[in-house]
Amino acid sequence: MSRLVVVSNRVGPLKDTGKAGGLAVALVDVLQEMGGLWFGWTGTTSDEGSFGPLQTEAVDTVTLAQIDMTQADYDDFYAGYANRTLWPVLHYRLDLADFSRRYEEGYRRVNERFATRLRPMLKADDVIWVQDYHFFNFAAELRAMGVTNKIAFFLHIPFPAPEILAGLPNADQLVRRMLAYDLIGFQTSRDAENFRRFVVSEIGGKDKGNGVVSAGGREVLVRGYPIGIDAAGFAKLATTPDARRHTARIEKLVGGRPQIIGVDRIDYSKGLPERFRAFERLLEDYPENRGGVSLMQVAPPSRSELDAYAEIRRELEELTGHINGRFADLDWTPIRFMARSFTRRALAGIYRASRVGLVTPLRDGMNLVAKEYVAAQRAEDPGVLVLSRFAGAAEGMPEALIVNPHSTEGVAAALQTALTMPLEERRDRWQAMFDRICAQDASAWAREILRDLDAYSK
Ligand code: ADP
Ligand code: G6P
Repeated sequence: MSRLVVVSNRVGPLKDTGKAGGLAVALVDVLQEMGGLWFGWTGTTSDEGSFGPLQTEAVDTVTLAQIDMTQADYDDFYAGYANRTLWPVLHYRLDLADFSRRYEEGYRRVNERFATRLRPMLKADDVIWVQDYHFFNFAAELRAMGVTNKIAFFLHIPFPAPEILAGLPNADQLVRRMLAYDLIGFQTSRDAENFRRFVVSEIGGKDKGNGVVSAGGREVLVRGYPIGIDAAGFAKLATTPDARRHTARIEKLVGGRPQIIGVDRIDYSKGLPERFRAFERLLEDYPENRGGVSLMQVAPPSRSELDAYAEIRRELEELTGHINGRFADLDWTPIRFMARSFTRRALAGIYRASRVGLVTPLRDGMNLVAKEYVAAQRAEDPGVLVLSRFAGAAEGMPEALIVNPHSTEGVAAALQTALTMPLEERRDRWQAMFDRICAQDASAWAREILRDLDAYSK
């Protein structure tokens, strides 16, 4: 059997340290099952950067191999092109994007250097699988070095409509380079369709049907492969002693009153201020919830050196102060905003203690939190998921209460429906979602992509 080589900017950790981010969480599950090499960035900068020593660590069948970046790489590639240019554009926020040439050059440089460092580790029949928007160019760089292995790509975040992507300078070049992959996977069928449309309308390629596009002498399979979680494993986590302790602490605190839970990296794509305002609206429009219902928001800081991220955190702190100042009572705090991480066990226990899971991104590739919330519920008395139509997860979870996160009144009304939903309806909706996330879990997701890669690229 050929070896799996995964490439991503963030690598590991393989232990439950409470590091937030959907990509790493999903891949840990997959790599632990399949084994292989996982190559990427150490998360630190040094003077030698990617020319420095390769740091390796083997845990069971998984080998981690990581290299540093220089400060300039970090600024231009990671904080620059990846997170100031691509992230906003791919999340439909052209207004927040910074198109500095220096960033584009940094992106090209880091893709090339990382590919150069991986090259000597590759064996002839390795299957290479590159992840996410940091490494769109990776296959093109490997091909230029003569690598002929099968290479797949998966994008964990949305791929916008061609009308939006065309706002990115050199978008056509970026997409042309992506055709060096044999297979390109997206979170939803709509993202895949957006990519194929771009190939046809912007670079003169052909849509050959069955997901295949051709351009510049290459044929590539382009499809939606919605990512899953290790649902059974996560459900088990929710009953560990650690998780139970967290469930019990919350239950003691809220004393039978319902809690709404939000868990997100602090990011403008997550719709957090809109969410807080919708919660305020719930207290205004349905005053019977005052003194009873509370919102717990777990929000680990993310990319905080970027202005847009620092700003959103300030806004959330202000909104929390405003809403609590307006409604709090001696024995009730409406919003508990915690800008910190928890281990996955603790999170599972927190989800389980919460009557409503509130997941309202303005745009999100998938949103694993929605699936984790469902996996952590008690079958006999499950909570209700309120889910944004703009999360990739909405495509496969129609039994959630689907909302438009821009509508303050609409989200408040859905919260009220969730809080008053009869047990039988809660059970029916939950069971359908739970069965589906168990069937379409992280390992099924990876197996499907690798099977298609094998079948397609002979
Ligand atoms: P994104 O990939 O944009 O961060 P996802 O919802 O897909 O969004 O994935 C986030 C992952 O990070 C989930 O697995 C979630 O459990 C984890 N996570 C989010 N917040 C925290 C936190 N405070 N502590 C620990 N893990 C977190
Ligand atoms: C999302 C992206 C990942 C990224 C994660 C955390 O899940 O899809 O690629 O790793 O956010 O962001 P960070 O910038 O800390 O890696």
